[in-house]
Amino acid sequence: MKCVESVAELRSWRRAAGRVVFVPTMGALHAGHAALVREARRCAGTEARVVASIFVNPLQFGPNEDFDRYPRTLEADLELCAQAGADLVFAPPVREVYHADRSIQILEGSLSRVLCGASRPGHFDGVCTVVAKLFNLVQPDEAVFGKKDWQQLAIIRRLVRDLDFPVRIHGLDTVREGDGLAMSSRNRYLAPEERAQAPALHAALREARDCWLGGSASADTLLSVLRGHLARSAPLGQVDYAALVDKHTLQPQAVADRSGLLALAVYFGKARLIDNLELDTTAE
Ligand code: PAF
Repeated sequence: MKCVESVAELRSWRRAAGRVVFVPTMGALHAGHAALVREARRCAGTEARVVASIFVNPLQFGPNEDFDRYPRTLEADLELCAQAGADLVFAPPVREVYHADRSIQILEGSLSRVLCGASRPGHFDGVCTVVAKLFNLVQPDEAVFGKKDWQQLAIIRRLVRDLDFPVRIHGLDTVREGDGLAMSSRNRYLAPEERAQAPALHAALREARDCWLGGSASADTLLSVLRGHLARSAPLGQVDYAALVDKHTLQPQAVADRSGLLALAVYFGKARLIDNLELDTTAE
C-alpha cells in the first residue's frame, strides 16, 4: 500500500489507475472504518483500486468543537488501511487541500437543518465542501460511507445527485462493540462510568423500534420510550435530540411508517455520541 500527501502525487497515481472505490475518513480509525475499507475492497474486486483518505477537515468543526484535540493516529491508521485492503492512502496536510484565500464553498439548504445540523451550524456545509473536493481529486467511481452518520450519508447522496458527481454511493451498516455501542473515534473521550452507560443509546433505539413492531406508531409514544430508557439507563447522558424522521427526507414523522428512522445524539461530558435505527431495514 502506498501513502501520498500531495495532490500532485495523487493525480499522477490516479492517471494510471482504472476504476477506483473510495473511503473518505478523518483518521483515528477503528474497526468501523476497517469494515468500510473491506467493503470498498469487496466492491473493487481484483481489478479496481481502493483509495482511503485521512484528513481532519477544519471546515466541518465549529469554533467550540474538538478540531485541535481530534485524535491523530496516522501510523496505526496506515496499518489498518493496509490490513483492510487499501491500495492507496491520501493523507494531505491542510495547506494541500485549502488555499489560504479560498472563497468558494458548498452550502446545503435543507437536509442539514435538522438532527445534528441543527446543533452544528455549518458542519454539513464543511462536509459537502471537503467531500466534493476529495471526489474531484480522487475521481472515484464508487464511494463507501457508514450508516452511523445517517444524516451525512443522506446529504452526500443529495450532493452527488444535485451536483452530478458520477460516483455510486454505498451505505454500510453500523459496526458495534459487543455491548451494542456504535464504534466511533469519539468513544475514546468517554470516562469509564460514561462508557458503561453509552450502550444505552442502542438499547433505547431497539426498545422504541420493538414498540413500533408491537403496533405503536405515534412519534410521541416512540420518543417517550426512547427518552425513558435513556433516563433510566444513562443518567450521565444529556440528550441533544431524539427524533423520528423519514430516512430519505429527514423530515419528522408524527406517525411512524416503514421509512421511519429513529435518531439520537447524546452528550457524555464533552463527547457527543450519535446513533440511529431504521424501523424497517427492508423498506426502500
Ligand atoms: O465521516 C467522516 O469521517 C467525515 O465527515 C468525512 C466524510 C471524511 C468528511 O470529512
